Amino acid sequence: LGIPPLPEGLPSISLTDNSIQVLTKRYVRRGENGEPAETIDEMFWRVAYHVALAEEMYNGQVENTAKDFYQLMSLKLFFPNSPTFTGAGTPLGQLAACFVLPISDDMGKKSTGIFQTLRDAALIQQTGGGNGFSFSRLRPKGTIVKSSSGQATGPVGFLRVYDHAFGEVAQGGSRRGANMATLRIDHPDIEDFICCKTNENSITNFNISVGITDEFMQAVINDTDWDLVYPDLTSPLCKDFDGDADTARRKGLPMKVFKTVRARDLFQKIVEQAHHNGEPGVLFIDQANRYNPVPNLYQLESTNPCGEQWLGPYENCCLGSINLAQHTLEDGSVDWKKLEKTTILATRFLDDVIDMNAYVPAVPQLEIAAHKARRIGLGIMGLADLMFSAGIRYGSETGQEFASQIMEFVRFHSMKTSIQLAKERGSFPAISGSIYDPEKITWEIPQPLKPYTHHWNRPDIDWNEILQGIAKNGIRNAAQTTIAPTGTIATVTGCEGYGCEPAFALAYIRHMNDNGKDVQLSYASPLFEKALLRSGLTAQEISELVDLIMESGTCQNLEKVPQNIRDVFVVSSDISAEEHVRMQAALQAFVDNSLSKTVNFPAGTKPDEVAAAYQLAWELGCKGITVYVTGSREKVVLETRSTA
Ligand code: CDP
Repeated sequence: LGIPPLPEGLPSISLTDNSIQVLTKRYVRRGENGEPAETIDEMFWRVAYHVALAEEMYNGQVENTAKDFYQLMSLKLFFPNSPTFTGAGTPLGQLAACFVLPISDDMGKKSTGIFQTLRDAALIQQTGGGNGFSFSRLRPKGTIVKSSSGQATGPVGFLRVYDHAFGEVAQGGSRRGANMATLRIDHPDIEDFICCKTNENSITNFNISVGITDEFMQAVINDTDWDLVYPDLTSPLCKDFDGDADTARRKGLPMKVFKTVRARDLFQKIVEQAHHNGEPGVLFIDQANRYNPVPNLYQLESTNPCGEQWLGPYENCCLGSINLAQHTLEDGSVDWKKLEKTTILATRFLDDVIDMNAYVPAVPQLEIAAHKARRIGLGIMGLADLMFSAGIRYGSETGQEFASQIMEFVRFHSMKTSIQLAKERGSFPAISGSIYDPEKITWEIPQPLKPYTHHWNRPDIDWNEILQGIAKNGIRNAAQTTIAPTGTIATVTGCEGYGCEPAFALAYIRHMNDNGKDVQLSYASPLFEKALLRSGLTAQEISELVDLIMESGTCQNLEKVPQNIRDVFVVSSDISAEEHVRMQAALQAFVDNSLSKTVNFPAGTKPDEVAAAYQLAWELGCKGITVYVTGSREKVVLETRSTA
């Protein structure tokens, strides 16, 4: 689709066999005969050139920018989310990973009605995009429906309808879009919702999350009662009401209390359920709204499927991740200069994606919403790799500070670039009344959770420059940073740690299905092997150690592994839940959207420990929390490793 041939002299990407397989299967275009219609390098050029076409609108240089974008990807410095690879320069043209759609409390009278939104969602799914929905506006199960005198189905019933529908929708591209359903903690049907996935085989196409308010957390701490409420539909004042409890309260509408429960009992229900199988997740709605950049447009009610991206109605976010593993100097320390350069170019790339994304033409609201706020979601992957190279233990206090400094640096340069783009191209159209309104800036300079005590040769950054820049030029993107799970792109780039997660295991055996045959592939962390070699162990000794590690994934119990290596090469199960939460909070301080992170607990964890992690996450300003107690699911639903 208008992409010129790959110019000569550009570097080829170097990939492992597994990466080539995943990439070829998922990203490379195929002809009618099903065979690849482009080489891997041509695939990167297609994406680079298509995205760079946006430059034309701003009198920029398409060809040169395309070459820069190509290098960004082929040197594995930065990857956009998977749909950009499958959609760019193809008839599909849809480039974003995730959307949030509104559901109003009607079957389809309005464009946001239950079945209208289902239709919109199905169309998005066909492009490989995932959807998040808040079901909180739907009237409780059993309330009277005036027009038919029947009884309302309620959020959980409609969630099942959606789930069945999505189960049947053939997915476009090469992936199934995931889904997220959210329900507020004060909705009368919340107890049903919390338990709706108790049976692992029900509602398989959705992640579920409870939207928790500060008031509820206070009620849990103070051990008080908690009302489950919905606007009183018998009141004439509520006749045309279309919103959730929050909106109703803001409008001063009469509310009906359906049930009063002890807050702690309800909290315990969530905790036990999550302890049992990792769901529901928890979303801290008030914290998200305190940082909502565009309160002039909407209140936030839901996130995308994996929880890292809060979005308003019909908004999407095109995600992209800087590969930190490729930002080290010879000695393993951080290459700050390179990180700055990558951040600048990646921010420009994502801003271009907003213009080049075809969205879904049959749902025109998507493009309108995207262009109003121009959200981008720049994040990281391979944080664990960088920490292995730099010799810093993930989870430790030093590790928390290190992660915070990295993310602060990325956020700073991304914002700085967004201001520069505003100067060249204009601010996002909804800036007036937003937190970045140059006439009345309410955005506050982000602060680390604790004062810094380490210096890793990081160049100085001056946040006042950002404040002054916004006052002078505005800013191009209402939101700039998000940390995605990077399920596929971290596999392709060969990161040992996905997104901002610690490594999952230092060595393991992976089962692959090859045309019905179970093929076993063994893996060992290259960074770990390198560290062992440097410490003087022989190849034979290393190979024996790796064999031992295959069992548990960790080296912590192996005396033969030098202590200084054990101190650094930790995996998810070596890190305490509290350390997981503190890492999340340290990163969140410099992510304006949210981040995808799982707090892992060892088998045998008690529900109270899960409850304590929830409370800590809330106190430290996280926007949500997802937990997983090892061994608690029959099927491992959270796929941590992508294979071909
Ligand atoms: O690595 P990749 O770009 O493929 O995606 P990711 O970072 O693992 O996921 C980013 C977002 O894409 C998720 O939070 C979901 O919103 C969406 N997604 C989806 O809808 N369906 C999937 N199968 C995978 C991701």
